[in-house]
Amino acid sequence: MNLAVTLSGQSQKLELKNPILTASGTFGYGLEFAPFGDLSSLGGFIVKGLSLKPRLGNPGPRIVETTAGMLNAVGLQNAGVEYFCRETLPKLPTNQTNVIANIYASSVEEFAELAAILEHEPRIKALEVNISCPNVRQGGVLFGQDAKMAAHVTKACRQAAPNKFLIVKLSPNVTDIAYIAQSVEGAGCDCISCINTLQGMSVDLKSRRPMLANVIGGLSGPAIKPVALRCVWQVAKAVKIPVIGVGGITSARDVLEFILVGAWAIQVGTANFMRPQISFELIKDIPLLCEELNITSLTELRGSLKVS
Ligand SMILES: Cc1cc2nc3c(=O)[nH]c(=O)nc-3n(C[C@H](O)[C@H](O)[C@H](O)COP(=O)(O)O)c2cc1C
Repeated sequence: MNLAVTLSGQSQKLELKNPILTASGTFGYGLEFAPFGDLSSLGGFIVKGLSLKPRLGNPGPRIVETTAGMLNAVGLQNAGVEYFCRETLPKLPTNQTNVIANIYASSVEEFAELAAILEHEPRIKALEVNISCPNVRQGGVLFGQDAKMAAHVTKACRQAAPNKFLIVKLSPNVTDIAYIAQSVEGAGCDCISCINTLQGMSVDLKSRRPMLANVIGGLSGPAIKPVALRCVWQVAKAVKIPVIGVGGITSARDVLEFILVGAWAIQVGTANFMRPQISFELIKDIPLLCEELNITSLTELRGSLKVS
């Protein structure tokens, strides 16, 4: 079965050998997962969020397990975009698969600056703009919760990186995700990924303290899959550009469910911590499951949900 998919955006295209991508922050910079499978077999991988300057992230504890998921408040720890381009990027298999940069900034100007730096980096095939991080004091999810701000950031990145495939990553922590999606589409992005984590918290009864030093964190994993499916379905109906589904995916069945509600590709996140070889396994599992379910192609399945 041919799993190849072309994401056709408003001004750029991205060719994937299959719809399996890995989600930012859950797959390191790719190399950490090389012992578990062939990185070049993936449709692509999205590196940990990059900022203009190095960031230490939040104090610990920054991660806690929850029922069917996890909470994190890492706070976008990273060594900065320059270090990444100089030290990490040359080691990545950029000729064999799509390496996608996820970017975070606390102002529109900084977003544009980051996009402009990566525009001149041919080894990066696409940018994913994170306007949905719940774990930082400035910017983050605030950009993604306001349709005008979301459009403003998107437009600035579009202008700064006209030749990159531009993905905007949306937050589920909003009243009307379809409205935000239409607004970033109107600002020129090529693709939308949804969802980032849901805001949540965990507490310890004995100490009467929050489990995370940051008190609030982002919930991810199987617990959020129904929310992610709902968001992808609503967004896919509202926009013309392709949508990438993210949230709680742990099996080929989950992947096909996201495609059924309209996704063109998917990202595997928290499942990488549970089973580091999972993203590689899914590529083999999807054709087998399609055969079992009499699905002849992903194109035939995409968006074919019957609702009446
Ligand atoms: C530890 C951790 C770190 C993350 N870091 C980022 C990040 O840097 N940028 C980003 O856009 N999303 C980040 N995310 C969100 C994931 O990319 C993904 O959107 C979310 O976890 C939902 O997918 P999942 O349920 O499959 O994990 C992070 C998630 C986790 C669990």
